[in-house]
Amino acid sequence: LMADSLFIINNYAREYFTDTLFNKEEGQNVGLSYFEERGFTEETIKKFQLGYCLNTFDAFAKSALDKGYNLEYLQKTGLVTIRNEQPADNYRGRVIFPIHNQSGKILGFGARILVKSDRAPKYINSPENEIYIKSRVLYGTYFARHAIDKLDECLLVEGYTDVISLHQAGVENVVASSGTSLTQDQLRLIKKYTKNLTILYDGDSAGVKAALRGLDMAIEEGLNVKLVLLPDKEDPDSYVQKIGAEAFREFIKENKQDFVLFKLHLSMQEVGTDSNKKSQLVNEIAETISKIDKAEDFTRQQDYIRQCSQLLHIDEQGLIQLVNKFIR
Ligand code: CTP
Ligand code: MN
Ligand code: MN
Ligand code: MN
Ligand code: MN
Repeated sequence: LMADSLFIINNYAREYFTDTLFNKEEGQNVGLSYFEERGFTEETIKKFQLGYCLNTFDAFAKSALDKGYNLEYLQKTGLVTIRNEQPADNYRGRVIFPIHNQSGKILGFGARILVKSDRAPKYINSPENEIYIKSRVLYGTYFARHAIDKLDECLLVEGYTDVISLHQAGVENVVASSGTSLTQDQLRLIKKYTKNLTILYDGDSAGVKAALRGLDMAIEEGLNVKLVLLPDKEDPDSYVQKIGAEAFREFIKENKQDFVLFKLHLSMQEVGTDSNKKSQLVNEIAETISKIDKAEDFTRQQDYIRQCSQLLHIDEQGLIQLVNKFIR
């Protein structure tokens, strides 16, 4: 089967890249020191099976072809590409983040450049293929699933290194959307473990926008969504490395807010005193509230109606009627 072959190649590559990281001089000097400078411990590096791809034209490709792996399949995984008509390493000179499925098999890789550059992307990720379908993957589920289940809450961050640094800080119920906006499939994956989703995004406007885009979808999926905004210019990785594990956990606790109410506050600032805009906002909020599954979560819907009507200075019964209009 094609899928099996791709899993086997990815597993071979993962072993090859971790071996390079720990046992080859360039791996140690370049890859391992990069991770160490970022504050990752050896235990963390091993747990997440991080690796390094030598900065050569085709060391990995040669080794894989020597082993008898099929060139066409190697290209499908994105590990090997054709350059000057020769099989070449696609991730050369980059540190490697394997992306695991829920049972620990490797779906693909993220490969990070060591020094940011205008000429090359920061991350190269595996292309979509039979086993790596980006919209269905959340980075870190394999490592987070027990903690999510136990704490009945899933934290959502943007990047690979956010997941890794939070784990190292003892926050293990965390997965990453890997920079894309959330998809319905990803939300369903979360809902298999818990109904409580807490989004930890950058405090900048791009982070807020990305978070807002996922909100209605998450509510429709029946999730209870909370939000933690990080200080400007920080992501969970940089912030936890800066202030330490305990302070970070405290920060999350103190700054967790309900996402629907957050959205309402934000919109009210934009609306100001414009009455047309206000009635549009009331409609939008009613629609969002209508998406909460009444049968499953009657009190939560009622709470929102009460709180939102108070905040908006509108009649509660009026809002109930409006909400019901959106429920068919
Ligand atoms: N990403 C990507 N390709 C890029 C940039 C980002 O695929 N060129 C994805 C990666 O999954 C990345 C996530 O989006 O982890 C978040 O992006 P960003 O915040 O820019 O990266 P960080 O995860 O913070 O990585 P680092 O700390 O190493 O800069
Ligand atoms: Mn559960
Ligand atoms: Mn950002
Ligand atoms: Mn970062
Ligand atoms: Mn980031």
